[in-house]
Amino acid sequence: MTEFVITRLGHQGDGVADGPFFAPLTLPGETIEATADGTTLRDIRVLTPSENRVKAPCRHFKSCGGCGLQHASDAFLADWKVDVVRQALAAQGIVIDFRPIETSPPQSRRRATISARRTKKGAMAGFHQRASDVIVEIPDCQVLHPDLMPALEIAKDLAMIGASRKGALSVTATLSAEGLDLAVVGGKPLDGPFQAELGLLAQRLGIARLTWDDEVIATLAPPWQAFGAAKVTPPPGAFLQATAHGEAALLRAVREIIGEAPRVVDLFAGCGTFSLPLAEKAEVHAVEGLRAMMKALDQGWRQAKGLKRVTTETRDLFRNPIIASDLRYDAVVIDPPRAGAEAQTIELARSDVPDIAFVSCNPVTFARDAATLIRGDYALEWVQVVDQFRWSSHIEVVGKFSRR
Ligand SMILES: C[S@@+](CC[C@H](N)C(=O)[O-])C[C@H]1O[C@@H](n2cnc3c(N)ncnc32)[C@H](O)[C@@H]1O
Repeated sequence: MTEFVITRLGHQGDGVADGPFFAPLTLPGETIEATADGTTLRDIRVLTPSENRVKAPCRHFKSCGGCGLQHASDAFLADWKVDVVRQALAAQGIVIDFRPIETSPPQSRRRATISARRTKKGAMAGFHQRASDVIVEIPDCQVLHPDLMPALEIAKDLAMIGASRKGALSVTATLSAEGLDLAVVGGKPLDGPFQAELGLLAQRLGIARLTWDDEVIATLAPPWQAFGAAKVTPPPGAFLQATAHGEAALLRAVREIIGEAPRVVDLFAGCGTFSLPLAEKAEVHAVEGLRAMMKALDQGWRQAKGLKRVTTETRDLFRNPIIASDLRYDAVVIDPPRAGAEAQTIELARSDVPDIAFVSCNPVTFARDAATLIRGDYALEWVQVVDQFRWSSHIEVVGKFSRR
């Protein structure tokens, strides 16, 4: 055993000691005793706990890999998340004030991927253990919304009839206005009798929609989401902001940036999380890579009352960004995946768009793209961190860019 001092938290939320050595579930300032296994520290004993260390709110925390940071106080985590973004921006030479962080409450996650497998006695469902394939059951999970919790039992039922002997099912569970929307992969191949069995199960358990691989097995009721005045039924397993609280915080920030802009383009629009609420005041052009999402957005818009015109375009914005001279809008919303929006940002930096609401789930690519915009003479006016992945190392951020 050797003594180590934890100097900081790494981006994955592990404590880091000089070396670097990575020590899960430790905090900066702590002295620990541990054994080095490569760069990972094992058999960790905390000798001097940090004043920021707290008792984990969830009894599953020690074994479940779903949350990595329940051993740290809320205040410490809020500061740490803001600091990760601050440092990513500083690495690009950007120094900026931050608005106060918005953190989603416990038990508010409305979308999660559950693992389920058959056992000798029946089946089990939950999240993976930290850095392992082993599934941990989580009946008292503090992250999932109470209405999403029944998905754990249902995932077991699905595993009983549909998991292979060895593999685990991956069940993406989303809370919709009509109940659970479940998209399953990794199970037995579908044949006629099995499909019928799944259909009966969906009916018996009142699952709003059940999808197996890419096949919709049953839709008891279209599992719609409300985006402003519109009701949208996303394609199975589609992206949705992780909590209703987080979505509302992001939308508030985006609305403020867009202001009264009459014509808006929403890039990486998904199913219309931002486009449809913004269409209460603005004409919106929504652009997104997945055709099924554009179709869902369009249908939602057509059925809604009182919205301005929303047009949709299926387009790969990595390979085929909208060029600067075509960006003739009063404001842009851009919300790319983790890789960021390198090609599209180069075009934005050359454009005349007055205001850009940049939403990102990756501080590093956000900072890279922010630097591109600033080189193109945009000012980064403010940044807000939204923490809809409480107790994890994930970070969501919104920035306001304005043409100088
Ligand atoms: C972080 S999500 C945001 C979706 C939406 N703005 C929302 O808040 O629900 C990113 C979106 O980018 C889309 N996407 C990923 N790669 C893309 C690409 N190369 N071109 C266009 N869209 C892409 C994904 O399908 C996804 O809907």
